[in-house]
Amino acid sequence: MIGIGVIGHGYWGRHLVRNFYQYNGTELIAVSDLVEKNREIVKELYPTIKVTDDYKELLNDPKITGIVIATPVETHYQLTKEALEAGKHVLVEKPLTGSAQQSKELVDLANEKGKVLMVDHTFLYMTETEKMRDLVQSGELGNIYTVDVQRVSLGLFQKTVNVIQDLAPHDISILNYLLNSKPTHVHTTAAYACAGNGEGMEDTAHLVFDYPNAKIVTLHVSWIHPEKKRLLTVAGSKKMAVCDFDAKSGPIHIYNRGADNYKPHNPQDSHTGYNLVQYRDNEILIPPVKGAEALRSVAEEFTKSIVEGRKPKTSGEDGLHVVQILDAALQSMKEGRKIEIKY
Ligand SMILES: NC(=O)c1ccc[n+]([C@@H]2O[C@H](COP(=O)([O-])OP(=O)(O)OC[C@H]3O[C@@H](n4cnc5c(N)ncnc54)[C@H](O)[C@@H]3O)[C@@H](O)[C@H]2O)c1
Repeated sequence: MIGIGVIGHGYWGRHLVRNFYQYNGTELIAVSDLVEKNREIVKELYPTIKVTDDYKELLNDPKITGIVIATPVETHYQLTKEALEAGKHVLVEKPLTGSAQQSKELVDLANEKGKVLMVDHTFLYMTETEKMRDLVQSGELGNIYTVDVQRVSLGLFQKTVNVIQDLAPHDISILNYLLNSKPTHVHTTAAYACAGNGEGMEDTAHLVFDYPNAKIVTLHVSWIHPEKKRLLTVAGSKKMAVCDFDAKSGPIHIYNRGADNYKPHNPQDSHTGYNLVQYRDNEILIPPVKGAEALRSVAEEFTKSIVEGRKPKTSGEDGLHVVQILDAALQSMKEGRKIEIKY
């Protein structure tokens, strides 16, 4: 059994605490939160767990092997650094930190100490994402033309980060995993604080990425949208697939549809009704996709990577790449131009 301590029992920390408590490979030993109400909830739900407002007690507890950090982004760097220096393995919430430089420091520190550094890119632990990756990587969809991601809803507005920093880490991690590559450039073509009339945090943004193995990759993130949508659409030369992460059942539809044999249009042929393309319009397949709660798989992966002494599926390096891409997307937003991403 791996002893676990969780720092942060807010909105997301609660889900992590429940999963580490229930997972049979770990023993949840202590939870720390600054807010009394949040500590009271832990005491009520898990009376045997140690509860404290001082996270250092977790770092000094020899029974704790792994620290889970579910605090606001601006605290990730300091807490992760202290935990690694105390000889603990660390699972930290996304994004790894607020800057590429800090993230790189943590990756180097984890390597130097020989400790696991894992980032909770939760969507990579969903069976929907695995199935979409299989479709892309197996070649079933053919050459990838476009990947289009939409992550929109009304709110939750954040105080310290804009909509790109809040939501895009999920999609960047999904895109890198789906395409098994990293983007070379990003262009934030539109970002605006709609609710603040241009003032304050940007609440809607459109990003375009250059990946080496897809023609066009686009992402729309927004807190100003009437409907909650988390949609991933991939159009390939053979088939197309849509994944609706919020669907109650049958989240993935595989369309045996497409348009082939593009021929440059010759104006002299226009009177003949000559088609530029030939359409294919065949069956739509809805494969069975079901699995455990993603955070249970997160708990399992963190534990197994500690026990087996290996890199986790969403390693510190992966988290660093996501932050490097985010940094470039924010620079593009400020400068209004396409930015080359430095790794
Ligand atoms: N993976 C996901 O899908 C997902 C979803 C939501 C949030 N998150 C991430 O989870 C993290 C937390 O977000 P949230 O929405 O739960 O925030 P939150 O504000 O609801 O909770 C953060 C908690 O951390 C506590 N805290 C802060 N500093 C502390 C310290 N030094 N010691 C002990 N406790 C401390 C606060 O008291 C608070 O209860 C963020 O990094 C966010 O990006 C991830």
